[in-house]
Order: sequence, then structure tokens, then C-alpha cells
Amino acid sequence: MSSTTNHIGKATSRVDGSAKVTGAAKYAAEFNVPDLVYGYVVSSPIAKGKITKIHADKVLALPGVIHVFSHENVPSLAWFDRNYKDDVAPGGSPFRPLHDAEVKFSMQPVALVVADTFELARYAASILEIEYAETKHETDIEQKRDDGHEPGRGKTGYQPPVRRGNANDGLSKAEHRIREEYIHGAQHHNPMEMFGATVHYHPDGKLTIYDKTQGVYNCQQYVTKVFGLSKDQARVVNLFMGGGFGAGLRPQYELFLSVLAALELKRSVRLSLTRQQMFSFGHRPHTLQTLELGTGPDGALLGLKHYALHETSRFEEYTENVVNWSGMLYQCPDVHLSYQVAPLDVYTPLDMRAPGAATGSFALEVAMDEMAYEAGLDPLEFRRRNYADHDQNKKAPFSSKKLREAYDEGARRFGWDQRPMAPRSMREGNMLVGWGVAGGVWDASMQKAAAKASITADGRLTVASAAGENGTGTYTIMTQIAAETLGLPLEAVTFRLGDTNQPEAPVQGGSWTAASVGTAVKNACEALGEKLLKLAKKMTDSPLKDAAFDDVEFVNGQIRLRLAPEQSVVLRDVLQTSGEREIAAESSAMPNPVNMQQFSMHSHNVVFVEVKVDEELGTVHVSRVLNVVAAGRILNQKTARSQVLGSIVWGLSMALMEETVMDHRFGRYMNHNYAEYHVPVNADIRNLEVVFVEEEDPHVNPLGVKGIGEVGLLGVAAAVTNAVYHATGKRIRQLPIYLDKLL
Ligand code: MOS
Repeated sequence: MSSTTNHIGKATSRVDGSAKVTGAAKYAAEFNVPDLVYGYVVSSPIAKGKITKIHADKVLALPGVIHVFSHENVPSLAWFDRNYKDDVAPGGSPFRPLHDAEVKFSMQPVALVVADTFELARYAASILEIEYAETKHETDIEQKRDDGHEPGRGKTGYQPPVRRGNANDGLSKAEHRIREEYIHGAQHHNPMEMFGATVHYHPDGKLTIYDKTQGVYNCQQYVTKVFGLSKDQARVVNLFMGGGFGAGLRPQYELFLSVLAALELKRSVRLSLTRQQMFSFGHRPHTLQTLELGTGPDGALLGLKHYALHETSRFEEYTENVVNWSGMLYQCPDVHLSYQVAPLDVYTPLDMRAPGAATGSFALEVAMDEMAYEAGLDPLEFRRRNYADHDQNKKAPFSSKKLREAYDEGARRFGWDQRPMAPRSMREGNMLVGWGVAGGVWDASMQKAAAKASITADGRLTVASAAGENGTGTYTIMTQIAAETLGLPLEAVTFRLGDTNQPEAPVQGGSWTAASVGTAVKNACEALGEKLLKLAKKMTDSPLKDAAFDDVEFVNGQIRLRLAPEQSVVLRDVLQTSGEREIAAESSAMPNPVNMQQFSMHSHNVVFVEVKVDEELGTVHVSRVLNVVAAGRILNQKTARSQVLGSIVWGLSMALMEETVMDHRFGRYMNHNYAEYHVPVNADIRNLEVVFVEEEDPHVNPLGVKGIGEVGLLGVAAAVTNAVYHATGKRIRQLPIYLDKLL
């Protein structure tokens, strides 16, 4: 029977869309509270050394300047409990702003000027004179090729990559072999919205903290630990985010500094970082990778080695999963994966969209293309021949994997069978045309989450969970899940998020929000449904009086018997008869440990790219991208497609434009602005197509969703690189592909 309350899967416009385009949506640094004062951060011009003197007098003499915070006057704080780390912290000792005179990285915050106005704080910061004693810094990973070490010094649950068989034996049996190095530079998260916070200092000393973050609970925990506050003294709120991409997974220093100032001055404080300062707290690490592959006469992979080295800071040991994917994406008996990090005088790298996989699969997927050519096989056919039917890393079946179907669907839509194998065989006017393919695999994760659902007598449902909305569509998909679970129209449902007064949700990352918070929302609505059924059964002559919860369904504003839908009661009548003003239920969701152990749970994708290369100018135009994604059940075709479109744009950026360049003489990122840190604009983007293949997964979680925040980025940069090879015959192994590499 068709229903007007089946919402899951439908292409639904964002429920928060009009709030965002009309300006009604409030971002962290936009909340207006009475008597605000303004902070401005002073950043270190040196990469390493000590602050020897701070000349604050001249600044403090300016009328309207309230205070200059620095290590010289920061009060002693509770956080010097050395064991505390935020939810997302790697091993080591987190950076503590204004802790002492030491400078550990360029652009380190060394002082906070607070004034009556933003303009005054900024001016005062600009004339604040600070003396430094500089010491020699090391910032270049290329100089550390032989100086890496296996992670583990930081001691936070790092698992070394799994190896199997003997890769050297496998490779020695191979008929065709390749061994190459792949490099990409650092990249910085560049959301539109700058990091910032507004801290509302209430007369009773309690704080409401509007912070730009992907995890309000993570920030609350940080603030309470660091400043020795109780939870009811520090409410953290984030209702909207103008992009996060991982930069907001950890509490950033605008949070520390604004809370410090509010507590010390007993005033409400606003602090917004500058675009330049956005390049000072975490990045995708500059990474060097070596891949070695060998195949037998039929194109079967016989041996694989993948080694990666990237930078970390001196104070924390950042790790990401770069090489493990190479042990599971293709079938191969003999695999050696190894991974090292090297500390440098930089800030700790930080998860950036599909951390590790975006870069690891870039190297793997270009190497696979090289190997296919070496073996004389079509690159897609080569992947089919080495298809992994189970996860060899985990030695477990996939809970579902429709990558083969994605290959078929993609090849058909793209017209892959028309592709001539030889490079430089397609032309359009003076442009060389090339087609490339690549793909990837990402975790389908789930974390513990909780939600609360409440319905009022007028039939309005409100569901809350302290999840995040970093532009991904959380408000919308949670509204859809709640509305469908209780058989209501979308308009009758409000989903609230981003507030530590709500039930706890994990940080918004890892592509796990749909699975984690979605299941919690479903469970909370079902718990509420059970209460509603109880009330319905008590009604006079209730047709449901003998029904168990499993016997009924909530559809079109009614509770009805599944097997006899004409036996129903109207939900609003139930509420009105009950005499209650509001009925509420809370529930949580956890991953199923048995399924987690039994299955390997992953999403997959494959990307087809067409490029046109002007050989005289060295320019690359991406004329077509098709991204075929197998990510379980898709909750909302429209927001999911938007997610993947964003991923494609980012992948093109990674391939052709995006890189933070450091001048190692200063240990400083030099292109720290939108003019010189290049990302695509509309004119760079042509024909993008996103397809989701059907993938039913009864094991992954009760909703059957895998998350699509990250998987869509995989393979994009490699497919561009492979297409450039097909067009030009030039094999590029270092991103981004600037025109000098093609001339
Ligand atoms: Mo994502 S890098 O887990 O925000």
C-alpha cells in the first residue's frame, strides 16, 4: 500500500535550506549576546624558539583595549592533568595555547588581545611587539626520508598494518612488475566559515559556548577538563557549520582562548580566526608513498608492497590509515604494508575528508593503472580480474559489496568499451583526450549515539540528538527517519541537534552519523511508538487492544495492524484521549558486536574521468566525471548526491590545484589565503554524474546505511591522473598536476 509517510530514500530538499539561504541559520561567531568584547589572536612569525619579551604596555594604553593574554599571565588551569585528550586526539600531548614561552610551529597563537571592538582588537594585535629567540627548525619531510619510525610511541591504540604471505616471494614470481613513488603535499581544510566562537558569560558564571565544531560533546569535555568546570557550567552549542571536513573534529584554539577570556574577564567574548590563521591548526599531511606490484601472465596480482611516510608534529603522533586499503581492495596472496611517521616542527596533522584513504588510494590506484599497462590489460578489466570477494586483511566476508555492479554500471554509462588502450589515441581539435578509471574503499562505521523523541498533543514530533550539521544534510535525513518511523508528514517533525543539553552523539565525522545517530533516532521514535501503542490500546473499543508492538505499523498519521490495515486508530486521537500534553522517550544505539566481528563493513566506489589536455599550454580540463558509489541504503537521493558532487569537486582540486606550499627557510605555509590556495570555481566544473548502485545490507546496522561523506572522494584524483596519462602518455606521480608537469 502506498503511503505519504514513506520518506527514507526519497530525494528530499534540505529542511534547513531556507534557514541557510535567508540568513536565519546562525553560525558560531554570529550569535549576538549583550555586552560582547572581541578577541584577536596574535600568531607567531617563527616556527621554533622562545618568546623572550612581550611589550604589552603600548597596546594596553589604547583606550578600549581590555587585556592581552599570553603565557606570562595565563592563570594556572585544571588541564595540566597530563592524561586528558579529546575524543579525536592522537597519541602524545595536545598543544596547549599560551602555556609557556615555547614556540612549536609557525603561526602558533602566542597572545590574545581583547578589546571593545573587533577592529580595535585587530589593530592592537597588529602593533603588539613580541621578541623571540629563534632556534633551528625542521619542516621538510623530504629531508626525513630515512628518519621515520613506526607509530606506537604515542601509545593510543594504533594498529600496525596487517601483512600476509611474503611479498618478495610473490613479486619474484611475477611476470610484470612496477615500483614507483607517489607524492602529494600538505592540504588544508578550507571551509567557507572561519573557526570562531561566541562565549556567553551568564550572570551566575555559567557559560553558553557557541563554537565552530563537529562535536559539541567533545568540546564540552575539553572545556570542563581544561578549566575545571562542571558540565552544567559549560553548555556547548553548534547549530550550523559552514563546512568542517575534519577541521572541527578536535577542539581548536579559538575555543580555549575565548573561554579563557570569558572566565578571566567575566564577560561575554567573541573570537573569530582569520583565513590565514585557518592554516595553523591541522592539515592533511605531506606524504611520500612507494608502491610495488607484480602480476602473473593472466594479470593476477602476485605480490604487493605499499609503504607510506608522512609528517607529524613534535608533540603528537598523528596517524591515519594510508596503506591498509591496499591489502583489501584487490585480491593478492602476498602483501607487505608498512607505515611510518616523522616528527617535524609543524602543527599536528588532522583528519581531512577520507583521511589516509584519499591519499593511499591515490597511490594504489595510479599504481594499478601503471600495472595494467605493464601487463597489457585494460585498467578496468585488470581490476575485475583482481576483485576481492572477501576482505583479506580481516579474513572476513563483506557485509555487502556491490563494487562489481558499480564497475558494470559505470562502464556502461561512460561508454568505457569504446576506449582505445593506447595513450594519445583520442583527439578533439588541438586537445588530447584521455579516459581514466580509479576507485576506493572506506569504512562503514557506527558509534554509540543517543536521541530523544517527544510528541505533543497537536501531533508535532520533536527529536533531538547532539549530532552535527556540517552541511551534510543531517537535519534532513534525521527528519526523514523520524517521520517515517512514526508515520508522520515531514512538516510535523522537527529535528534538533548540536547542543550538549541534548542526548549525546559522537563527533560528526568518519561517515558514521547516518548509521549512528540515524539508528538512535529510529530507536527513540520506536520507543515513543511503544508508549503510543499502550495508550492506543487503552482507548474505548480500541481495535488494537490485543496488538503487540510488532503487529502494528505507523503510517499516514495512524497506528494500524500490519495484517489488517483497516484496523487502525488515528494518532492524534490517541494523543488527545490520553490527556497528556507531551509524551517522550529516549533511546540509544550501539554497533552490533557480533556482526562487527563476523563481517567486514565497507563502502566502495569507482570513478570514470574524461580529460582534455592542451599540450601546448599544459592545461587539463576535466570534461566528464562519473562517480558510481556502493554505500548501502541511500537515505536521501538528493542530499547524498550533493555530498558526492562535493567530493568530486574536492577530488578534482586534489588532482589539479590544491596544495599548501611551505617555505622551509621560514617553516611557514606561504599560500595561506584563497587567492593562492587554489580550489576549483564553477568554471572549472563541467559534467558531473553521480550514481548509487543498489546495495542491501542486512548486517551493517538496522538502517542498512554505510555513510557517503567520504567514499565519494576516493579515486577521483587517481582517475584524473590516469586519464592524463591516457591523453598524453605522461605518467604523473606527484600532485597536484600543475601545468609545468605536462610541458
Ligand atoms: Mo571527517 S575527516 O571524519 O570530518
